[in-house]
Amino acid sequence: MKLSNLPPLQVGLLGIGVVGSGVFNVLTRNQEEILRRAGRGIEITMVADLDTARAQAAVGPSVKVVNDARAIIANPDIDIVIELIGGYGIARQLVMEAIEAGKHVVTANKALLAVHGTEIFAAAHRKGVMVAFEAAVAGGIPIIKALREGLTANRIEWIAGIINGTTNFILSEMRDKGLGFDVVLKEAQRLGYAEADPTFDIEGVDAAHKATIMSAIAFGIPVQFDKAHVEGITKLDALDIKYAEQLGYRIKLLGITKRVASGVELRVHPSLIPAKRLIANVEGAMNAVMVQGDAVGTTLYYGKGAGSEPTASAVIADLVDITRLHTADAAQRVPHLAFQPDAMSDARVLPMSEVVTSYYLRLKVADEAGVLARVTGLLADAGISIDAVLQREADEVGGEGSTQTDLIILTHDCVEDSMNKAMAKMQALPSVLAPITRIRKEELA
Ligand code: HSE
Repeated sequence: MKLSNLPPLQVGLLGIGVVGSGVFNVLTRNQEEILRRAGRGIEITMVADLDTARAQAAVGPSVKVVNDARAIIANPDIDIVIELIGGYGIARQLVMEAIEAGKHVVTANKALLAVHGTEIFAAAHRKGVMVAFEAAVAGGIPIIKALREGLTANRIEWIAGIINGTTNFILSEMRDKGLGFDVVLKEAQRLGYAEADPTFDIEGVDAAHKATIMSAIAFGIPVQFDKAHVEGITKLDALDIKYAEQLGYRIKLLGITKRVASGVELRVHPSLIPAKRLIANVEGAMNAVMVQGDAVGTTLYYGKGAGSEPTASAVIADLVDITRLHTADAAQRVPHLAFQPDAMSDARVLPMSEVVTSYYLRLKVADEAGVLARVTGLLADAGISIDAVLQREADEVGGEGSTQTDLIILTHDCVEDSMNKAMAKMQALPSVLAPITRIRKEELA
């Protein structure tokens, strides 16, 4: 019998909101194309959602709609469960129960995998089922596929990504319009770009979930969200975006993971990046991920990081992978975290104090003789080399007759611990009049 003559694989969907509807619509619209690729039909036959009326309206009368997700997990006809509930409460229990029931799982839940991935992948390995999560990182961009398969020949050196659309939209607007963070956040909420509670986005947590997953796949280490350094954009001043621009840089919220001699860096924070890099020109809610491999060099992946059909595109790619591979011996499937489970590395995730990077510093100083020498002297004492200095005219900064000015310093690479100590000494100088602003800088060369 031809593969395509087999009955379709049956899929149960847990949660049908924006992404779930996208999955249903794209799967229906492109079913012939998908059948030709997968070799077998894929059909959503059950949906669980608390709002059953809305769910039924979304999928039509031929799909069974229930308000109890466990009815899907208990159904022996269901081969694959898609989890689109989000969070790590009930979603975690249901994913674990689906695995125990022998179902393959597709999830877009980055928070769940970044925090509980080790337990989930171990259970899936034991049961011989697949947990697929292309949609969990950078939405429609097939970055998991690229890292796990396309780049499999490489020793991956680093990854740097704009992996949160909400914050990239906010930063783009702050730069374009010279507006403050709070004003743009309200605008983003009004336009529906930012959630009513945008905390996970603006505090960098969502990006850190995604960076954690990429770090695990890139270096074959367990997911370790608790070790990630997480800093958002809430304290960014439009002034720094302007000064950065004058120095040839843009400020982006980057998720960075890097292999270094002493371990692995895993960090999310605003970063200055050279304006001439392609990734610096990723604007609005778009996502992009740069990957540096030893053989391939630098690669860049760009696209929509969220939204109904872009995310559905990733979810359905996982459904097709599972359809092709579910009859294969589990040992021949692509490992969940790209490396064989018994070949994982215990490389340590470095604390931020050990990270080596370069910096942008802005100091509000008294406009008097010797200030620049004292500040740069403290940096020199700490062994920190200066790359560039920009001093604004006092009148320009504080108005006519002002006695204060902004001193902007770009440094070369140094250990963060040295920078922390030098900053404490600079801060204590009487001529430094306000808390020093420090933003890390990445050349991404
Ligand atoms: N809230 C995320 C973003 C999308 O703004 O990119 C889902 O991870």
